[in-house]
Amino acid sequence: MAELAGVPAVGIDPFSLAFFDDPYPGHALVRETAPVVRLPVLEAHNLTGGRPVVGIGRHAEVQAVLMDWQRFPSGRGVGLRDYVAHPPLRGPGMILEIDPPLHGQRRAVLNRALSPAVVRALRPRFEAAAEALVETLLARGEIDGIADIAEAYPLGVFPDALGMEPEGRENLLPFGNFVFNSMGPDNDLLAASVAELPPLAAWATRQSQRDRLRPDGIGAIIHEAADAGEITHEEAPLLVRALLSAGVDTTVNGLGAALSCLATHPEQWALLHANPGLARGAFEEAIRFESPVQTFFRTTGCDVELGGVALPEGTKVLMFLAAANRDPRKFPDPDRFDITRSAAGHVGFGAGIHMCVGQILARLEGEAMLAALARRVTRLAPAGPPERRYNNTLRGLRRLPLRLG
Ligand code: HEM
Repeated sequence: MAELAGVPAVGIDPFSLAFFDDPYPGHALVRETAPVVRLPVLEAHNLTGGRPVVGIGRHAEVQAVLMDWQRFPSGRGVGLRDYVAHPPLRGPGMILEIDPPLHGQRRAVLNRALSPAVVRALRPRFEAAAEALVETLLARGEIDGIADIAEAYPLGVFPDALGMEPEGRENLLPFGNFVFNSMGPDNDLLAASVAELPPLAAWATRQSQRDRLRPDGIGAIIHEAADAGEITHEEAPLLVRALLSAGVDTTVNGLGAALSCLATHPEQWALLHANPGLARGAFEEAIRFESPVQTFFRTTGCDVELGGVALPEGTKVLMFLAAANRDPRKFPDPDRFDITRSAAGHVGFGAGIHMCVGQILARLEGEAMLAALARRVTRLAPAGPPERRYNNTLRGLRRLPLRLG
């Protein structure tokens, strides 16, 4: 592999279980070594056609790359695999791995399907579902914050909002697990989820067809856009499918992060309990602090300059969103979880043209659930050690024993 002038190498393996167990020293190393570092462990996977792989962990560079789709396009894959050298495992993502102008056409449809007005109309239902869930949990006292809240709540409200039928929803989490594992190297995590894939993918494709979706849901809005000629009738079910893969595991891990942070910071829970109006800020801070979506890649579309160094065309750039979200250059005292801080400017939902199209909906889920809990639960405390769930892109837990008091 050619030398990259002025780019120091860092020997971390950001897709290993040891790294997932404690990513913070690795993030700090990437961030503090230089604006751009070389990642030889990832180059050794030979998924980039012999081209270099670099990492960025400072907020300024991550933000700059996210905002600059011309020089850092997504069409060659937002995972480690460079699609020019290695075809994707499942066809490129229908929206996330598409560059303008096609991206803009599809994105306009998704923006409308997930607009503030659409989400506002969902609010009463989402709030009622959160209240009802808390009511059943209070009777139990000890719960698993992941299965009983972080999974149960989005798996109830989100597929309903899309207009999905009740059958088969247990496929949503393993389907998302595969999609987010596919952004990493060909490691054991990916192999395990590939093995599960064929029935899941067939289910997701079937479920995204018009005749499977209620006419008053978000999915139907996407199909109506095909009637209006804004997208094709072939694209419509694939865009619904993109929401199935992007919209569940992300929110589950977002809620799980919020619960875990609040349970381990009792003074922050006390603040939230005293003022449930802080729920929105608490969810946002959890996204900054834990970054449920840890990483995404871009590929340089031409020779570029980034952070004072020259990168050749075809360089894979790993954006450590989680490292950027704890960059002290951007956030004062970044390792402190503080629900009253302004987390504005965090990149947990990305930035630029691919910035999360479901963020308004995700925030409603987070706010409704946390506010419902805060109103009824005086003390939220750990009731045993949590267990980590491993994924190449997502950070989260498999189990989070909690005591509600
Ligand atoms: C806490 C929950 C969520 C987090 C942390 C999250 C995070 C992200 C991030 C970081 C990106 C940008 C990726 C990039 O630029 O490479 C993104 C894009 C995206 N998200 Fe989310 N997301 C969440 C919830 C959702 C939900 C609920 C939906 C669907 C309803 C959704 C659908 C999408 C889609 C379709 C894209 C691609 C947008 C595009 O390429 O224009 N996400 N998300």
